[in-house]
Amino acid sequence: MHSDLEVTGPHGAIPVRVFEPEREPGAQPGAGPGKEAGKEPGAVLVWAHGGGFRHGALGMPESDHVGAELARRANAIVFSVGYRLAVDGVRYPIPIDDVHAVWEWVTARDDLPSRKAIGGASAGAALALASALRSRDETEARKECKARDESKAEDESEARDESKAEDESEAREGSEAREEGGAEEGSGARGGRIPDLILLAYPFAHFPVPTLGLGRHQEEIEDMVRNYVGRISDLPPDALPGAARLDGLPPVHIVLSEHDDLRPSGELLERQLREVGVEVESLLARGSTHGHFNRPLEEPEPVDVSLGFFASALRVPQQAPKWLKKADAEPRIEFGADYNPEQWPREVWAEDVRAMREAGVTVVSLGIFSWVRLEPDEGRYDFGWLDDIIELLHANGILVDLATPTASPPPWLTTKHPEILPVDVDGRTVWPGARQHWRPTSPVFRDHALRLVRKIATRYQGHPAVTAWHVNNELGCHNVHDYSDDAARAFRIWLRKRYRDLDTLNSAWGTAFWSQNYSDWDQLLPPRFANGPVNPTQQLDFQRFSSDALKDYYLAERRILRELTPDVPVTTNFMVAGDINGMNYPDWAAEVDFVANDHYTRPGPQSRDELSFSANLTGNLIAGRPWFLMEHSTSAVNWQPVNIPKLPGELERDSLTHVAHGADGVCFFQWRASKAGAEKYHSAMLPHAGTDSALFRAVTDLGARLRSLSDIAGIARTPAQVAVVIDYESWWAAELDSHPTDRLRYRREALDWYTALLDRGIRADVVPITADLSGYRLVVAPILHVVPVPLQERLRSYVGSGGHLATTYFSGIVDENDHAWLGGYPGALRDLLGIRVEEFTPLLDGVTAPLTNGTSGTLWSERVDVTDPAVKVLATYDHGGPAVTRRAVGEGSASYVSTRLGPAGLAPVLDDLLPAAGVDSELPPELRGRVELAVRGRARFLINRTDQPVDLSSLPGVPDDLLPARGVVVVR
Ligand code: GAL
Repeated sequence: MHSDLEVTGPHGAIPVRVFEPEREPGAQPGAGPGKEAGKEPGAVLVWAHGGGFRHGALGMPESDHVGAELARRANAIVFSVGYRLAVDGVRYPIPIDDVHAVWEWVTARDDLPSRKAIGGASAGAALALASALRSRDETEARKECKARDESKAEDESEARDESKAEDESEAREGSEAREEGGAEEGSGARGGRIPDLILLAYPFAHFPVPTLGLGRHQEEIEDMVRNYVGRISDLPPDALPGAARLDGLPPVHIVLSEHDDLRPSGELLERQLREVGVEVESLLARGSTHGHFNRPLEEPEPVDVSLGFFASALRVPQQAPKWLKKADAEPRIEFGADYNPEQWPREVWAEDVRAMREAGVTVVSLGIFSWVRLEPDEGRYDFGWLDDIIELLHANGILVDLATPTASPPPWLTTKHPEILPVDVDGRTVWPGARQHWRPTSPVFRDHALRLVRKIATRYQGHPAVTAWHVNNELGCHNVHDYSDDAARAFRIWLRKRYRDLDTLNSAWGTAFWSQNYSDWDQLLPPRFANGPVNPTQQLDFQRFSSDALKDYYLAERRILRELTPDVPVTTNFMVAGDINGMNYPDWAAEVDFVANDHYTRPGPQSRDELSFSANLTGNLIAGRPWFLMEHSTSAVNWQPVNIPKLPGELERDSLTHVAHGADGVCFFQWRASKAGAEKYHSAMLPHAGTDSALFRAVTDLGARLRSLSDIAGIARTPAQVAVVIDYESWWAAELDSHPTDRLRYRREALDWYTALLDRGIRADVVPITADLSGYRLVVAPILHVVPVPLQERLRSYVGSGGHLATTYFSGIVDENDHAWLGGYPGALRDLLGIRVEEFTPLLDGVTAPLTNGTSGTLWSERVDVTDPAVKVLATYDHGGPAVTRRAVGEGSASYVSTRLGPAGLAPVLDDLLPAAGVDSELPPELRGRVELAVRGRARFLINRTDQPVDLSSLPGVPDDLLPARGVVVVR
């Protein structure tokens, strides 16, 4: 539905065509824009068609089809502008004036939705962008004007204090008048607010167009520009606005046509915008030509995809569901596995589903590694088998967590495009043969992968079985650090965004050292193999970048999924486990609709505690919300040097430990053990031995146990009084090379504290450094190596408000650039701790640093000088110096442990710290250390930490007195 109207601009009337979303049946006609019943439009778009500034009209598809479709798809009101064309003496800037006049008119109306966007195609994109730049300039001018007025009013008021009072009111009146009349002549500050969003289709934003070949097109383009501006040199920056200052703009979405002489202009614009910190998203419309919006019949697929891309950006963002989408809202703990039916003949599928039902499976993750089965050759798709298995699962009431099958690119793709293969630090290509052999920064990989994502999302849009999207698989498991040329290019863009100019980068990277000063961005590289230690800040930034590059790829997939299936939550399986630290998950957590994690135990004395620690941290990535255990193992894995099966009871105990820490889904890798391939000796829910096996019976029992805990689903974990803090930046930086020792392991120290707390029956939360710490009585921040000023202040204020902080050796040492804090260690925390250390004394393997309390340190030691009389020495080295200190600060305190004590050595330290912080165990003395307690609301999980039964008779309300070896009891 459209109507026509006219807006008056500086050059007279401007025709405007208005497209509104279809009215709901029964809505009142004539209700006017934004007023129809039942379906309030959510956004407004001012749109400019293209035509080389000289052609085009409101009736062309680029105006008409786009207007109608965006109105419908995005539930928006679209105002398509019939700006004056550059004919009959009309020239720059008249077309911009017209578009901008309509923008100002639209933004001045208060009867329209508040979300307002501007956009255009080709030359129209240049006009829309130029108008947005004007709005930015006008807004900036208004701000400056206001600031000037305010300071003038201040000066005048000072003068007035000395003289007459009437002047005061005049000055104020003058200032108010200017403020109100922001659009008035003479103030230099006109109306027009900055749009919320800019949509640019195949923009013509530069002249000369970068990398455009010579020939016919070059002449045409010159002619177009000469006709529009009157010349082809000395162009005003906003005529082809890629030449203008581009910062201060809202998010920009760019559609690029694949076969388009002007594509380099759009691509350059994208890079320019990114560099100045503008959020950009782009879509390469495969198979499309320049101006494809004008060819909906000839190029239906790209037009549809491009419109979908714009519509999803324009539509008022819908709050994605935060948990599985399912018809039945009954709370339950989900139970299931990765399911890889493509590895099996169809006859097996029916048997699979039957056994799934027997085991109580509620959900499976499907299609994770099925790219080649779904797209056997480029652009040839085979979804039939997936349709069938989804139907079969659906018919049996099993939900589908549908994977985007992008984790393992098929041989046809890597053969045709070996440039998508990652490159390792030594410059070696990572060849296909395993999986995840792709670069997150490769435009070619992205193009192919995202096209497949779009296909699969389109195909299963609205399917009732699809309960969530499982993006890729364990992003960064094998490809977190890629040193390829694509990575180098993306790293440079990332660095430009972080540092803006080379001077800042040089100073952050300390490039005065070893003659590393950079004079051109192109000289910057990932930290590739070198004949000595590579610049540490370069390494640290590369860690940050690598995490961001994968996250950016995840977001690219998510964008498509949100566009096509906004009602289905999107997640990806994290790997909060062991020493995996490539991805800064606290930073990723905000981007998933619910957190999903994969966890596998490693053998060793702290194996069980490590599981609890990981589950605990996973549950605190988005505190208060349930999470999903996407993978763990029923028994042995296949990738350790020796793969030991789980002991009886371990399967259930491990699963319930995750539930105790907030997991509302317990899933495994995988449903049926593979017959072939690298993982055939990995355990599964259904082992090689078949359903007649102890393992399958244990799996079925677990299904029943989880059903009995349905009432716990959705209940948040109850916070503890103690927090153990994890900081990925410190983890990265503390383990860099060229340090006092290469033996230091960040997470091992944190886990030691966690074990020591569990040994004393103390419940602790493992939280990211970004968490709100104010509710905790005791915060343990082991090896908090990176302490920028804001964190220094946060910790100071935490302790100042009565909090108790404990930290360790190698903490407070560097700032965010990995530059040492000067004046003595522990640098940023020196004053708070009231101590000073001049030199680190790391210990050789086998050497210990005995303490007078009978414990002894390993790895590290220090000569600690006490600098504040409020510091009490809690433990002393045999050689005489303080080993553990505590400084009282009002009601709070700051403690320091200068060596690695391990869980046993930390016991006496906690005996001092816990009572001082007012923390006591919630368990009776005889259970402390033997049982882990985790609490979700009314439910108290008692987890046996030992291989012996534990007598629970001292606890009230426990149904059975005996907690079996490796068992878990849940008391409500
Ligand atoms: C995970 C992976 C699964 C499977 C599993 C084996 O890292 O996501 O696909 O390989 O390990 O333990």
